[in-house]
Amino acid sequence: MIPAWLARNPRVDRTRPYDAAQRAVIDPAHLPDIGMFGVPDKEPTPLMTLPGLAGRLALAEVRVKDESRRFGFGAFKALGGVFAVREFVAAHPDLKPAEIVFTTASSGNHGRSVAMGAQLVGARCVIFLPKFTSAEKEAAICARGADVIRIDGDYDTAVAECRRQAEQKGWTIISDTSWPGYETVPRDVMRGYTVLADEIVRQWREAPTHLLVQAGVGGLAAALIGYLWAVLPQRPRVVVVEPKSADCWFQSNAAGKPMLASGNADTVMGGLACREISPLTWPVIGLGADWFMTIEEEDVMPARRLFAHPLENDPAIASGPSGCAGLAALLRLCGDADARNAVGLDGSARVLLINSEGNLGEGTP
Ligand SMILES: Cc1ncc(COP(=O)(O)O)c(C=O)c1O
Repeated sequence: MIPAWLARNPRVDRTRPYDAAQRAVIDPAHLPDIGMFGVPDKEPTPLMTLPGLAGRLALAEVRVKDESRRFGFGAFKALGGVFAVREFVAAHPDLKPAEIVFTTASSGNHGRSVAMGAQLVGARCVIFLPKFTSAEKEAAICARGADVIRIDGDYDTAVAECRRQAEQKGWTIISDTSWPGYETVPRDVMRGYTVLADEIVRQWREAPTHLLVQAGVGGLAAALIGYLWAVLPQRPRVVVVEPKSADCWFQSNAAGKPMLASGNADTVMGGLACREISPLTWPVIGLGADWFMTIEEEDVMPARRLFAHPLENDPAIASGPSGCAGLAALLRLCGDADARNAVGLDGSARVLLINSEGNLGEGTP
């Protein structure tokens, strides 16, 4: 029997073409030019091969896209906020950057990316942080020249407060999540993330059969699912992974429409601590993901430890609590024979994981 923490997507149709509804969210023809980012380090992040782990789990291959090495920034979020800030400035030549105040709510990484973008274009920046974001992440945002406003609440409360103050003060929101009437910027953020998907396609000619991708609001998952669906002859089977207390995608899948998480999003996986999905991403994730699953808080440390102290000659990978969620999910699936069979993780499976963040002061695993 399939465990309660795993659910099939009843809407998925693997013969469905990538059509206008998906292209309106993620358009592979609009891959950003990496030169647009204005960062000194433009190298693709490595796609690590872990044969020791693949052998132990009786899989053909396990590869990890290591975003801890992105732009010297330490998380894939560097691709989104920076790019969206630059796009906004390019689309508004009448505005002087020095007169713009960019703002967003963030659990840490996206805010740092927006702060970096604002610094690059010479604009002011104000970041709204929920109460659980670490002091290290706050310091890293301030080091990029941004002001921080701490909210006595969670990520979704910070989003609401950011929207309220931005409206009052005429600030420009660079959000990674969308809401009705606010889609252009989140679409640009995800457009930035497609750089990562394109690098994978170039780095892995034989292409993965499975992708385990962690979701907060769904921007990362949408960029990967959309891009791979559009460009590969056969897209991988995708498992969307969330913390149990922040299972907004798991609940939305069950309901067939955007739903709130069943828990209070109190999780060490700060980047995934979202109670609401980004509705813009529904046509890609809601129709294109094959499975949704949740992981437990106790799954995080063993996965971080395994990345940091790998098997045999596998390379060591530095990950944060949200970064290792895909590996935590893989271990969970492989530990349950029914789940493993259902998802098709057999000896021919080539599995792709995304280490979406490095160890940004989150303790030693
Ligand atoms: C490290 C990390 N991984 C994954 C995610 C999830 O990304 P998304 O909210 O686009 O689903 C985030 C979001 O903040 C993050 O910081």
